[in-house]
Amino acid sequence: MRRRDVLIGTAGLLAGALPVPRAQAQPVPTLPRDFLWGASTSAYQIEGAVKEGGRKPSIWDTFSHTPGRIADGTTGDVACDHYHRYPEDIGLLTGAGFEAYRFSIAWPRILPDGTGVVNDAGLDFYDRLVDALLAAGVAPWACPYHWDLPQALQDRGGWTNRESADWFADYVRVVVARLGDRVPNWVMLNEPNVHAIFGHAVGIHAPGLTGFPNYVSAQHHMNLAQGRGLVAARAERSGLTLGTVFSLQPIRPASTSEADRAAAARFDAIWNRINLDPLFHGRYPELFAADFEPLVKVGDLAAIQQPVDLLGVNYYGPSYMKDDPGGVLGGTGYGALPPGMPVTALGWPIDPEGLVEVLGDLRSNYGNPVTYVTENGACYDDPAPKDGVVDDPKRAAFIASHLAAAARAIEAGANLKGYFAWSLLDNFEWAEGEAKRFGIVAVDFETQVRTPKTSYRYLKDVIAQHR
Ligand code: FCB
Repeated sequence: MRRRDVLIGTAGLLAGALPVPRAQAQPVPTLPRDFLWGASTSAYQIEGAVKEGGRKPSIWDTFSHTPGRIADGTTGDVACDHYHRYPEDIGLLTGAGFEAYRFSIAWPRILPDGTGVVNDAGLDFYDRLVDALLAAGVAPWACPYHWDLPQALQDRGGWTNRESADWFADYVRVVVARLGDRVPNWVMLNEPNVHAIFGHAVGIHAPGLTGFPNYVSAQHHMNLAQGRGLVAARAERSGLTLGTVFSLQPIRPASTSEADRAAAARFDAIWNRINLDPLFHGRYPELFAADFEPLVKVGDLAAIQQPVDLLGVNYYGPSYMKDDPGGVLGGTGYGALPPGMPVTALGWPIDPEGLVEVLGDLRSNYGNPVTYVTENGACYDDPAPKDGVVDDPKRAAFIASHLAAAARAIEAGANLKGYFAWSLLDNFEWAEGEAKRFGIVAVDFETQVRTPKTSYRYLKDVIAQHR
């Protein structure tokens, strides 16, 4: 079933035409006039069409089809069928007034075997998407890698193979050559820290590898890939705005014990500094430098320390860590949350002030780079649609409180220039499957009907008030 001819904007116009109830009286923050408002998605989580247009499997196809890996047994085979329904989804962006859209490009659509022969049909899809975004007045922000490595490359060791840095640079060259004339903003990797930790150390994400050595190797090679990707993009086309995306969070001890404090410091190095220090200072954090040392060849750190025009920060909340001598991540483990700490439906702690802390850290320790929140949002169990709306007051409140935190951070001197909501659509939430929802627009995965939520209407109001 193809829906390429769906008129751009159907859903958005509809959403715009409905009487917009003021969104549950959430406070509207005051952010700068030129603050950029966007929404984010990623390829495997929304596109579906996994066997169309010459695409071959990624590590997430393999992983999601492995029994027991995904909590609700779903896969990304269809997801939001965005591959066919992208015009309707662009209508949802314009319906709320979003000015920018961060999407990812599926490497296995472009180079189905990971390297070698370029698949034009894959590039054509992103051509259509980008052209439709531009026609709708939405600035495209492309991320070449949001965790969907071609399976063929995993078969050659994936990110644990040092050659992966060159595979990635070659791939970046291909997508920038084709789309760089219309896509000004590029963020290289989505959350290499999360991909390294969950995919290569604890194995709950694709490719399902485990152990500290795999983690160190995947993390170093992704850092290197990011550096080589930035160089490749710059060489391919001048004038682009280039950066990358890290998941950053305050890491707090689960108790006041000395052992837990030390564990928190170690996990802070693993979660935050292992990406930030090489990029901005050309070194690995002291606590783990010896673990990386055998992999770091002459010139690697200089190759990673590339200038960036922006840093994307994905912020969801803090982590509370305890000492865990057998724990795969530097002897740390997730500990209990402080009593009374509010959480989302995934049990993630809610702490908007953590965003102020993270941005303060960038200001104090990393030269206050131009920053965008490239993901922020929350998982909640939503009610069924009623009168054309899914009422999600908790998600709207979550977003409102984080926008207020963003405003406080800017007041304190953060170089924060915009906010992208995660996510435009309910989607395939990795190991959680389709049951766990982060969208500001609900998706009925049976019918593919999209229904804006209260949080969408809230953001629409906020954006309108800033224009
Ligand atoms: C981030 C991922 C994104 C989504 C959100 C909830 O870590 O980048 O794909 O899963 O978490």
